[in-house]
Amino acid sequence: MKSEVRARTDYLLHCSGCHGQDGTGKPTAGIPRFTDQVGYFLKLPEGRAFLMQVPGLLSANMSDARAAAVVTWMIKEFAGPSMPEKLEVYTAEEAKRYKAERPADIMGRRNEIYAKLLAQGITIE
Ligand code: HEC
Repeated sequence: MKSEVRARTDYLLHCSGCHGQDGTGKPTAGIPRFTDQVGYFLKLPEGRAFLMQVPGLLSANMSDARAAAVVTWMIKEFAGPSMPEKLEVYTAEEAKRYKAERPADIMGRRNEIYAKLLAQGITIE
């Protein structure tokens, strides 16, 4: 299977049940939307890591290469105006490293990232 097609399939199988096929999530149920904002995480190194440290991805138990591909696909598909000028695609090596470096308090890390982005004038809803 072509890697892009596989990444899309992985998203549909492992992520869309909660985050929606269109990436809009269910903010009222605590599932953040990706559309038009997920790219902002890439402004911070810890934000880049965080996108690969979320529970939904780890529990899908994909290979590092597939995890890197599905998160890259998700960003390309949903970032919209939050897309960085130059997207550096995730590598399997990064996926492996970020998983190993996962903070014990992932929600605390998320709050720190939101606060740092807010200080740059960026709100994640
Ligand atoms: C069982 C439901 C569920 C599944 C399946 C799931 N997620 Fe999530 N995801 C959540 C919830 C709830 C949150 C918010 C709380 C948290 O971070 O745990 C979240 C947060 C995220 C975030 C952080 C977004 C932000 O704005 O903070 C990313 C990135 C993410 N998920 C990616 C994925 C990917 C990629 C997959 C598939 C491999 C996936 N999720 C599968 C429920 C899910």
